[in-house]
Amino acid sequence: MRNYDLEFLKKFSLMIGLLALLTLGLLVGAWWIHKSQPVEVPESVTRAVEARIAPVGAVYAGSTGAAAQAAAAAAAAAAASANVAYDGTLDGSVIFNNLCGSCHSSGVGGAPTLSRADWTSRIAQGVETLHTHAIEGFTGNSGIMPPKGGNPALTDEQVVAAVDWMLDNLE
Ligand code: HEC
Repeated sequence: MRNYDLEFLKKFSLMIGLLALLTLGLLVGAWWIHKSQPVEVPESVTRAVEARIAPVGAVYAGSTGAAAQAAAAAAAAAAASANVAYDGTLDGSVIFNNLCGSCHSSGVGGAPTLSRADWTSRIAQGVETLHTHAIEGFTGNSGIMPPKGGNPALTDEQVVAAVDWMLDNLE
């Protein structure tokens, strides 16, 4: 081998060696950075895992048990239905006895009582008008009928049911 060939080979292998070292360094560096990063789990994987490890049967004990959860759900439903007056009943007598009767039984403030004589002229307006007046409120010659009897939580249907019950129970 000639002298300058040997020289070249030396430098060349040195370079290859350095490059190999650099490659190794980059590999180790990349691996180290990869290790130090928090693992990102795709949401679909999380969902799949949660579905896989979900209990087969519901647990009926403890504060996180299904019984407690059912109780909490029932309480939430009760709280929600509390916003609907009288559990949303369409029984006119319930609504009348709880609300409308406070004025319409005694006739306080000029409210027409359940005596037929109080109603003949009012019925003459048509039942539709009575419904509307009960829902939207009405101020006539005898006094002030507040909208929905003063309870806005009543649905229109409930007010209509109460009016119809009143008309059915005139004496
Ligand atoms: C705060 C007292 C009060 C309450 C509560 C009340 N009303 Fe009245 N209501 C009146 C008065 C007073 C009148 C008469 C208004 C007038 O003609 O001047 C009246 C009139 C009416 C009329 C006749 C309206 C018309 O056009 O002649 C209907 C129907 C009626 N009320 C339905 C109801 C219903 C149904 C409820 C319950 C959801 C109810 N009221 C609750 C005071 C009340």
